[in-house]
Amino acid sequence: MLRTLLAVAAVVMVAVHTTSAAPRDFNSVVNDMLHSILDKITEPVKPSGPIELRIKQNHVADVYLRMDDCEITGLKDFVAHDSTITLYGIGKANISISIKSPKVTLTTGHYFINGTMVDHVELYGNGPGLISVDEMDVKVEGSANVLGMEFTEATLDLEMWRWTVALEDLMPGTDLGTVFNEFFSMYGPEIFDIVENNINKNGKLVGIINNLIKQYLPGRIR
Ligand SMILES: *[C@@H]1O[C@H](CO)[C@@H](O)[C@H](O)[C@H]1NC(C)=O
Ligand SMILES: *[C@@H]1O[C@H](CO)[C@@H](O)[C@H](O)[C@H]1NC(C)=O
Repeated sequence: MLRTLLAVAAVVMVAVHTTSAAPRDFNSVVNDMLHSILDKITEPVKPSGPIELRIKQNHVADVYLRMDDCEITGLKDFVAHDSTITLYGIGKANISISIKSPKVTLTTGHYFINGTMVDHVELYGNGPGLISVDEMDVKVEGSANVLGMEFTEATLDLEMWRWTVALEDLMPGTDLGTVFNEFFSMYGPEIFDIVENNINKNGKLVGIINNLIKQYLPGRIR
């Protein structure tokens, strides 16, 4: 997911450049570039390492989730919408990029989860699992230095219509597995908000995006 985001960020920077050469609707520029990247992806996408998630929210949850052998589908269906660029000052721009996919599905051959939920209820499990997100909407808003081809700040906004979480062998030997899966499924948008806040707070987004832009640009515009 992060990789897709970064790819999108790279698209933005290329699009900025393209726009100055031949003015076009920014959203369709983003869309063209997005698809030139996504066309190179073969689904299911198999991340090389595990996907790890830590949700630490006072009085709500302190949970660590690790997913190995992941396969992701639905990334190729991302389409740009309502993306805008506002140029101002000398070589500065405010950029808003939104991309949406009707369904993104992640399967894990082996997940591991442990931690505590509300009121110190212990949570644990490991086994195969699936998370599928309906109407996933990823938005990156930021300021860019167009001449330097880099973002100076960027924030992430993750939205979804709903998701389904199905972790098998959760709370083995109890009836709680179903309850927890339903709980997670019900609070998808809130969990997305927590993830989004974590990413925005750790301050690494801009650096990662700019790094990707550097790797992506040379072959494109030089
Ligand atoms: C650019 O974004 C900043 C921060 O959101 C905002 O304060 C400023 O008004 C924006 N400038 C333009 C020209 O849109
Ligand atoms: C989960 O397990 C690890 C390793 O056993 C432990 O260090 C950690 O405190 C546990 N809880 C959470 C929330 O990560």
